[in-house]
Amino acid sequence: MKIGIIGTGNMGRTLGGLWAAAGHEVFFGGRRPEAAGEAAVRNGTNHEAASFGDVLLYCVRGIDPADAIGDRDVLNGKPLIDLNNRAIPSGFQFEVSPSSLAETLQTQAPNAKVAKAFNMLPQEVFEIERAELQDKRVSVLIATDHQDARIAVEILAHDLGLNPVNAGPLRNARLLESAADLVRYLIARTGPGPLAILSVPLLTSATGSSRFGGRRPSELDGPEPQRIFSVGQHLRVESSGQIDAPVDVLWSFVSNFNNIAHWHPDVIASRLESGTGTDAGSVRNLRLRNGMCIRERLLAISPENHYYKYSVIESPLPMRDHESLVRFTRLNGSRTRVTWIAEFSATGGDAEALANGVKTGVMDLGIEGLTAAATSGRKEV
Ligand SMILES: NC(=O)c1ccc[n+]([C@@H]2O[C@H](COP(=O)([O-])OP(=O)(O)OC[C@H]3O[C@@H](n4cnc5c(N)ncnc54)[C@H](OP(=O)(O)O)[C@@H]3O)[C@@H](O)[C@H]2O)c1
Repeated sequence: MKIGIIGTGNMGRTLGGLWAAAGHEVFFGGRRPEAAGEAAVRNGTNHEAASFGDVLLYCVRGIDPADAIGDRDVLNGKPLIDLNNRAIPSGFQFEVSPSSLAETLQTQAPNAKVAKAFNMLPQEVFEIERAELQDKRVSVLIATDHQDARIAVEILAHDLGLNPVNAGPLRNARLLESAADLVRYLIARTGPGPLAILSVPLLTSATGSSRFGGRRPSELDGPEPQRIFSVGQHLRVESSGQIDAPVDVLWSFVSNFNNIAHWHPDVIASRLESGTGTDAGSVRNLRLRNGMCIRERLLAISPENHYYKYSVIESPLPMRDHESLVRFTRLNGSRTRVTWIAEFSATGGDAEALANGVKTGVMDLGIEGLTAAATSGRKEV
């Protein structure tokens, strides 16, 4: 991705440097662009960074983009990731705020796609190796009203070894900013030190436990207690591989959502129910080798950044709330990495078996099929 860093201080320098190392094109902007140090291949003004990036990281606290960048229009249509937190008050006596910096930023730049993210992680966390962060499932909570901004953050979080967690609409930036206040209180006042984090782990073994009689509905549970506490076990499954084919060749197979029968070995036929297959909202109806029918909706697609996201909306499998992200990363002119990440809740039966079945029967097999299609010289349809 092309990333513009607005304000190259501690966080801008650190995150931008890591994303550059992960293969993204990063432009460091600021009042003193040299502050990016060795990490900077490209640096200049905040306006130049905002013009350059398809995705922007906003690291200047509480400053109107009209002042920090000099022009709001350059932000139009772009994901604008706000990682700012309020200034720490005297004595760490935080007040609960009725709004958030991120909502104010969205008001100031109404045509940008603001997402609150990365604000709960102290800079020191990013000194830790990617593999260790991944192992510990460190969360990045994301609050936004924009699907493509959420996906951009998910991709960037993944590249840092972090686990993206959907924290709902931008209004919930209030909660994330308050959570960051708590993190900073923990860091400074009660002992966990500079690596204090708040994460959302998947406690798989606790699901379904009813040692104490299970949860009974209570007036404390709100309007939808059954829905809230019966969502089933949340699963996250990942499959990836490297393919000896240029990213454009691979993308030509998947660029139409309805083309899947031409590369996935388990799909016999795909029929579009709505959309063109290249626009978000398109729905495909699949028939599999075992006779199963599955309906899926394209949630987002980016030909520029080579990813698409879709959801299973109807299937005989015991799952719900499914979302999958399929992403292609250029390694060099003739080699590409494919990453396929699925998240869903198991609604019954053996959740582990379901996760394994999705991984091997859908994702691993799909990557094998893509490899065969792209390296056999077959043309996309
Ligand atoms: N550090 C952390 O661990 C951490 C973690 C999570 C979130 N955050 C949040 O991230 C934000 C940035 O933190 P940081 O540690 O990176 O701070 P920082 O090192 O002080 O960087 C702040 C940046 O804002 C720029 N800036 C300040 N006033 C400006 C203005 N009037 N116009 C244009 N640019 C201006 C500074 O430019 P100059 O260099 O020219 O002064 C600098 O590039 C804060 O809101 C913080 O709460 C920080």
